[in-house]
Amino acid sequence: MTIGEALRRAAEHLDERSETPRLDAELLLAHTLGRERIELYTDFDRPLTETELDGYRELIARRSRREPVAYILGEWGIRRLTLAVDRRALIPRPETEVVAERALARLAGIEAPRVLDVGTGSGALALSLVDEHPGARVLGIDVSAGALALARENAARTGLHVELREHDALAGLPEGPFDLVVSNPPYVEPNDLDTLMPDVRDFEPEVALVGSGITDAVARGALEVLRPDRWLVLEVGDGQAAETAALLDELGYTDVATTPDLTGRDRVVEGRRA
Ligand SMILES: C[S@@+](CC[C@H](N)C(=O)[O-])C[C@H]1O[C@@H](n2cnc3c(N)ncnc32)[C@H](O)[C@@H]1O
Repeated sequence: MTIGEALRRAAEHLDERSETPRLDAELLLAHTLGRERIELYTDFDRPLTETELDGYRELIARRSRREPVAYILGEWGIRRLTLAVDRRALIPRPETEVVAERALARLAGIEAPRVLDVGTGSGALALSLVDEHPGARVLGIDVSAGALALARENAARTGLHVELREHDALAGLPEGPFDLVVSNPPYVEPNDLDTLMPDVRDFEPEVALVGSGITDAVARGALEVLRPDRWLVLEVGDGQAAETAALLDELGYTDVATTPDLTGRDRVVEGRRA
């Protein structure tokens, strides 16, 4: 079977089990062959060896059982970084790139800002901020020891320095003062867990998905630890932006604003401590 045929068959096989069957098929074949995805197209007619086919079939079988491609590959990109990912932490999402963008905009002009990342997970936000604002001194906290271990591996992998600490945001935030508090907290309500796609619900850690009152706790806690005039930047679930913006208004934040993700959904809410 050639590369072209294997891709076509794998994409057909995944059609009912993935929203992106062709992309998945390409990423998994490139991974099997240790090649870049683009290289598949220059080698379309090359026959695969039995060993290559066996390896590829195994990855396609995992994907057809709904395991996310990122976990199968063991790494995933966010902004300029490629991070290790596994079931200890959430896979970085495209909308979180917008959170990083808004956070960096709020840090512009501050030479050595102190930043708190609440619910750091794989370290996606904490590491992106240090990478793109090298003066930043970032503390990432998480309630999950597994996620923190992964974030430590990612700090070593990227050669970026962040401080990481096990800490429950519901018990208050670590002592400031900070120039920015950023968070992508778990924001799926417990009753909504069953509405998530199986790829997410059955593979990503529940503690990273489901949370009641964590956004609220971070918004209240940040008032205690932010320097005056400095910013809180929050990722919110689809449909939660208005409610979160109203919460920030009510708590006395000023200049409250929302930003859409690349699909036009409002997913980032920010406000300035008065
Ligand atoms: C949606 S994930 C975000 C991960 C990463 N920041 C990202 O954007 O990809 C939420 C993270 O918050 C952590 N978390 C959940 N409850 C928490 C709490 N009460 N205090 C601190 N972290 C918490 C989870 O373990 C998880 O790593």
